[in-house]
Amino acid sequence: FMVDKGNHRHFMEKEIHEQPEVISHTLAHYVDFANVTVKNFESPIDFARIDRLSISACGTAYLAGLIGKYWFERYARLPVDIDIASEFRYREMPISKNSAAMFVSQSGETADTLASLRYCKNEGVPIASIVNVRDSTIARESNGIFPTLAGPEIGVASTKAFTCQLSIFASLAVRAGLDRGTLTKDQASTLIRELSEVPRLVREASKLEDKIEKIARKLSEVRHVLYLGRDTSYPLAMEGALKLKEISYIHAEGYAAGELKHGPIALIDKHMPVIVIAPYDRIFEKTVSNMQEVAARGGQIILITDEEGASRASLGDIETIIMPKVPEFVTPIVYALPIQLLAYHTAVAMGTDVDQPRNLAKSVTVE
Ligand code: G6P
Repeated sequence: FMVDKGNHRHFMEKEIHEQPEVISHTLAHYVDFANVTVKNFESPIDFARIDRLSISACGTAYLAGLIGKYWFERYARLPVDIDIASEFRYREMPISKNSAAMFVSQSGETADTLASLRYCKNEGVPIASIVNVRDSTIARESNGIFPTLAGPEIGVASTKAFTCQLSIFASLAVRAGLDRGTLTKDQASTLIRELSEVPRLVREASKLEDKIEKIARKLSEVRHVLYLGRDTSYPLAMEGALKLKEISYIHAEGYAAGELKHGPIALIDKHMPVIVIAPYDRIFEKTVSNMQEVAARGGQIILITDEEGASRASLGDIETIIMPKVPEFVTPIVYALPIQLLAYHTAVAMGTDVDQPRNLAKSVTVE
């Protein structure tokens, strides 16, 4: 069927703005908001029975899986191996019988992800996939799927599929935590309540668009950008860098903030903007010291944080994007918004083909 851009300049812009709605749809599939718990949805994976979970995917879907790892390990005490599918498929990883495998793919057709799935199938472990296209090959070959209800995604750079994938991982982590007895009912309810706030928080975050657009205009004049984050903001830093390079062709790297000293600090000078994703949390101060290291070398900092973080950063003259206060659990879903908008507006300022960036394909069905 036909999908059109409505009042938007690009599909990507439309898809960014659809997020509150599609996240809401997706969550409603997995979460029972009335009883503040997870639904008893079908799952080919019995989370109480496994002692390890392996996740593989490509691109943005891989980064969603990386955030899933933090959640499964933290809330369900379930160890997770996460791999880029093109590595996993040839790595000959021994798969234990008490494990399960998950694959993440918007299209459900990515060749390397499919090959990784077949490898695990051959090892005889249960397979579940998070897919946006329900009648895709990956969906068909899995023992069961967790569908994202994002609707068709046309922009080559994934946006709404990503936040829907995250919404599912968050729901699954709570479900796994309950099944494994690592979360009490009360703790699970608190997390579910936080998850239910996401669509509203995402809508609020999108109100920062004018401010982000101004910053993007400046960003469009640079050659290199470094993104930093800790904890779940680290995969998000990589996602920010991926989005920016995909659609604006500016060279960008995403790093764990703690790794700054181990290499990227050598690149810092006044021509190198550093985008720091740092909501105010228990490790905020650690990231502040990384920002001081950047500032001391003349790097320009763009800090994405909340009121509390902005007032505690005290770094003098830096750009700050002030987000609403977001519960720690759901931070990466909500902070995906400024990251996407920054990449989008930078690309628009540069005049690139946002929905069809050069050399990239929406779905990579060949190796
Ligand atoms: C391509 C797209 C990315 C996407 C990746 C994985 O590189 O440009 O946006 O994240 O493929 O695609 P999949 O359909 O498996 O999620």
